[in-house]
Amino acid sequence: MEAPSRYGKVTDDVLVLLSEIVGDKNVLTGDERENYSQDETPKLKPVLPEVVVKPEDTGSVAKILRLANERNIPVTPRGGGTGISGGAVPIYGGIVLSLERMNKILEIDRDNFVATVEPGVILSDLYQAVEEQGLYYPLYPGETSSSIGGNVATNAGGMRAVKYGVTRHFVLGLEAVLPTGEVLPTGGKFVKCSTGYELTQLITGSEGTLAVITKILLRLIPPPGRKEVLFIPFNSLDDAIKSVPDILKEGILPTGLEFMERDIIKMVEQYTGKEIPLHDYDAFLMIIVEADSEEEIHRIASRIGEVCLSHGAVDVFIPGSERAKRNLLELREKFYPAICHFGTPEIIDVVVPRSRVAEFVGKVKEMASEYGIPLISYGHAGDGNVHLHPMSQGTEESEAKIKELLTKIFEVGVSLGGTISGEHGLGIAKKDYLPIAFDKGKIELMKRIKQAFDPNNIMNPGKVLDLE
Ligand code: LAC
Ligand code: ZN
Repeated sequence: MEAPSRYGKVTDDVLVLLSEIVGDKNVLTGDERENYSQDETPKLKPVLPEVVVKPEDTGSVAKILRLANERNIPVTPRGGGTGISGGAVPIYGGIVLSLERMNKILEIDRDNFVATVEPGVILSDLYQAVEEQGLYYPLYPGETSSSIGGNVATNAGGMRAVKYGVTRHFVLGLEAVLPTGEVLPTGGKFVKCSTGYELTQLITGSEGTLAVITKILLRLIPPPGRKEVLFIPFNSLDDAIKSVPDILKEGILPTGLEFMERDIIKMVEQYTGKEIPLHDYDAFLMIIVEADSEEEIHRIASRIGEVCLSHGAVDVFIPGSERAKRNLLELREKFYPAICHFGTPEIIDVVVPRSRVAEFVGKVKEMASEYGIPLISYGHAGDGNVHLHPMSQGTEESEAKIKELLTKIFEVGVSLGGTISGEHGLGIAKKDYLPIAFDKGKIELMKRIKQAFDPNNIMNPGKVLDLE
């Protein structure tokens, strides 16, 4: 995309100034920029940034932003690049601000159960460091190569949200840099706070459109005891999903409660070459439970089994061995790569109240079949977050139908009390649909907030909402 004329270009003198801030080798202007031209969103055209800059500390981020702001150059912050809404694609060129070198775990405070980390820390490193201190960070978006900064910027969710909530529930404070170069500390190592506006939570989930996050205070918890996975086949998806509210009504709080259908199971088996037990049924629940003792796990598992059997479940499979358990969870994590391997999907992450998931999935399947568009569905049934993949046949006609279908799917989700994105963010991929979820007054308020943080609109412009 041509940079609109109102943005300044990264001229040679800007490159010299950037090199003075971060050193020549952390200013990329050659072919290496290609690695920063896209994220993992299917269908989006890559866009080369004019320059990639890799700062190592907050002071450098502040200097880069101040320079960009003075020269009116757009800045796209980037973490692990694993996003699937196009949030890290530099659609107006300009500067990609890669936080990959700010990857230090600064402190794990065992007295206060708080980790202080830089945004470029990769999740797998965070899990390991926290575990070594006998603590636990339970959020698990499923992509362990994602960065914690990206998780915070999108308010990532994942498979353990039923019990633990989403990323923002573990963010106690931030250090963020405004386009003026001002460094803004928010929150602190405390749980309670009734002091002024909640800036930590405003910046969390803002997808790099307000400020660049340079430090994160994460709440930690004691590690869970034992973990078990239940895999429960059904003859109908409707029966499977309708069990979910009844399981939770029993007072059981699983860590994760996922639904899936036979088509995605077959795809992931083909993709990985591994077999899933009982794979011939129509629909399945995969339920992850945690408890302090083996007896407690058995009590919960048998209660869940009874509820599911009363809803038409065929069997309750409990893998038993650690290896079989891991296998099941790993196969679930491979759904999205498997789909991308076999086609070019849209990825939808509508969230509705969990009591409406069955109705939502029923309605959207009917709509998709009216359009003749194959639709794969699975998702986080326990928290109402449904993934839908309308599969393109590669023709213009099917693309046009999918576009219409997407609008209708979002409208149905919102009409059932839900919203457009539960965990992936709006980025560029979903921003045009925001008016389906928010009325004009609310969008205008968001624009005024954006303007207060970023009057020149240099912070990840064109993401989440359009200012014009
Ligand atoms: C998942 C990703 C696509 O749940 O959010 O697999
Ligand atoms: Zn998901």
